[in-house]
Amino acid sequence: MKIYGLIGENLSHSFSSRYFNEKFLKEGITYACYKNFELKNISEFPQLIRENNLSGLNITIPYKESIIPFLDKISDEVKEIGSVNTIKNINEKLVGFNTDIIGFEKSLHTLLQNKKTSLILGNGGVSKSIQFVLQQLNIQFKVVSRNSDLDYHNITEDLIKESDIIINTTPLGTHPNINSYPEIPYKYLNSKHLLYDLVYNPEISQFLKFGKKYGTQIKNGLEMLQIQADESWKIWSSDFNLNL
Ligand SMILES: NC(=O)c1ccc[n+]([C@@H]2O[C@H](COP(=O)([O-])OP(=O)(O)OC[C@H]3O[C@@H](n4cnc5c(N)ncnc54)[C@H](OP(=O)(O)O)[C@@H]3O)[C@@H](O)[C@H]2O)c1
Repeated sequence: MKIYGLIGENLSHSFSSRYFNEKFLKEGITYACYKNFELKNISEFPQLIRENNLSGLNITIPYKESIIPFLDKISDEVKEIGSVNTIKNINEKLVGFNTDIIGFEKSLHTLLQNKKTSLILGNGGVSKSIQFVLQQLNIQFKVVSRNSDLDYHNITEDLIKESDIIINTTPLGTHPNINSYPEIPYKYLNSKHLLYDLVYNPEISQFLKFGKKYGTQIKNGLEMLQIQADESWKIWSSDFNLNL
């Protein structure tokens, strides 16, 4: 049996385990299963690897960056952005990849039209993937972070009005804390904006509810999540011949 799984801090509401196990059932993949592995601290990772014969892993909040020192090799994209969401065990060597990039890019594709500017809320693991994609698409971006000059208190009316896309990469609004949201001046939004929330549970977060109230286009994180999961599976199920 090949064991795949997800590591993160709190996985009680995670999507991946159900998604993969349903996929295995539907597609008659009887040699694989997918489990959750909650880690209180990333320092527990080596023990997890020692005690389990794992073929592949997904990584979620808050370990996408802190996992990197534990890996034997990382893809070129990971070298550039410093965030891993997929690990493949290749001959006992752990190799890190990032499928959030392709997940975000594909899910944004049809919504771009003439959008040229964006505001990214949060500067954690997945935010780095979003920044990478926007750069490749030639979409200007500014990052709002609690620890930078551009924090939530100095988002101006002009900044909101000049940002075609506003992307929430913070966990604010995720179940069970569904009443929380990034504190931006929503009243300056209009129908030209796209609000993209990486949160997928609930389907319409408080952030997206504000978008709806002011007539923006909205998009939640479900499609991105499905695409990044499928891309992880492509990595796990294909033959790699890496010189490790
Ligand atoms: N839909 C998808 O496919 C998909 C894929 C990946 C992740 N996600 C979701 O995206 C979210 C972030 O994941 P991640 O892996 O990037 O997590 P992460 O590495 O922990 O980063 C989250 C960032 O959000 C900001 N943040 C956290 N708590 C906050 C608060 N109370 N107020 C304001 N900002 C706060 C912080 O940025 P600053 O310190 O810079 O303010 C933090 O670095 C999670 O909800 C995750 O489920 C969705």
